[in-house]
Amino acid sequence: MAHASSYRPNTAIGKWFDVRLPVMRMMHDQFNDFPTPRNLNYLWTFGGILTFFLVVQLATGIVLAMHYIPHESMAFDSVEKIMRDVNWGWLLRYMHANGGSMFFLAVYIHIARGMYYGSYKAPREILWVIGVFIFLAMMATAFMGYSLVWGQMSFWAVTVITNLFSSLDSIVDGLGTAVVQWIWGGFSVGGPTLTRLFSLHYLLPFIITGLVILHIWALHVPGSNNPTGIDIKSKSDAIPFHPYYTFKDAYALCLFVILFMGLVFYAPNFLAHPDNYIQANPLQTPPHIVPEWYFLPFYAILRAIPDKLFGVIAFAGSIGLLAFLPWLDTSKVKSTRYRPIYKWFFALFIINTLVLGYLGAKPAEGMYLLFARIGTAFYFAHLLVVMPVVGWFEKPSAMPGSITDDVLGKGSGGGRPSAATASPGRR
Ligand code: HEM
Repeated sequence: MAHASSYRPNTAIGKWFDVRLPVMRMMHDQFNDFPTPRNLNYLWTFGGILTFFLVVQLATGIVLAMHYIPHESMAFDSVEKIMRDVNWGWLLRYMHANGGSMFFLAVYIHIARGMYYGSYKAPREILWVIGVFIFLAMMATAFMGYSLVWGQMSFWAVTVITNLFSSLDSIVDGLGTAVVQWIWGGFSVGGPTLTRLFSLHYLLPFIITGLVILHIWALHVPGSNNPTGIDIKSKSDAIPFHPYYTFKDAYALCLFVILFMGLVFYAPNFLAHPDNYIQANPLQTPPHIVPEWYFLPFYAILRAIPDKLFGVIAFAGSIGLLAFLPWLDTSKVKSTRYRPIYKWFFALFIINTLVLGYLGAKPAEGMYLLFARIGTAFYFAHLLVVMPVVGWFEKPSAMPGSITDDVLGKGSGGGRPSAATASPGRR
């Protein structure tokens, strides 16, 4: 959002820099003085929390990489060496492994917040689509990082996931096999595969960092959405980002870090799988191959489809479709707060995703498989049918006239969505 700069450098060096490279002005205007809706709740603190965890992952990961050896016969032992012999190595590793989980927990809350308040709607579509790319890059990074431990679960997860590409054989005979062998760098998962996973695991976080910069840039053009979904209309609707939201964000971050530290210091392996403390053995398949918790809903979708190629398409589609939400959602209002029917569907969608997560950890057979199929059907029906159709006929409930009215509890400002939120071009 363009607003008049209030930055006044008051030192000689500050003035000298300001006419040459005005980074301080940019920081001041974007992160200090930035006009932000005055009614943001704690769900708006997760972007900051995510940024913090990105830094934690980068910092701990770079030091871990100084001690890790990406070689098939040394990788597992080098991780154990980090745990036992490297000064504070156990802390670095547990922070990195649990930091990944915290990162995903935060991103799921962040995505659900965006879905509930319609933050993907105009004019924030690009911001949202960049977010989906970040999410994809996060998934790829986490998958590759997990494989580096070279334990049983790492090895077999890589085997299962890379083998998905062999489904291309059913389109062009031999294509899938060729792609899989190209990825492996051989005829099975092995040393060359590990080296490339390590290389890409180191690279991707920097790509994520670049995407996050674009994400925040795209956010600062329209500015933040807010729980009403109504745009800022007057000065009284906004407050400067600092000190109001810097402190709110810092407080929420402290609470989240307490949870993180609880995991790191008291239950560091709570989210881990015991089989990953057994060194990778290509001759012995574990009875149940399960991914990390944050992949489980998508893993359930993958296994719910009996055909391999269609399973892969459903798996990719379940994530890829999220990028199209700005166009699939036809509602006139952004915030689900004012959507009496969609509210229930949204709650069902969240419950369904959690149930799919539970089913992803269970064997793909009997009742588990049946429910995973129902859940998969519901997941796609929500995105492809409920979102467009409910938006067409639903009558939004009474809305406040402005952000200020909402904060002051003035209730309905006419009972109809305002032009800023309701006109088709600004959906
Ligand atoms: C590394 C991961 C990510 C980081 C560091 C990040 C960072 C941020 C930050 C700092 C904000 C502003 C504060 C806030 O509204 O919470 C934000 C807003 C937003 N993010 Fe993200 N984000 C990430 C991932 C994602 C993903 C995966 C999506 C969606 C698929 C997404 C969608 C959005 C949307 C729609 C907003 C605007 C929210 C609003 O104004 O209501 N972000 N993000």
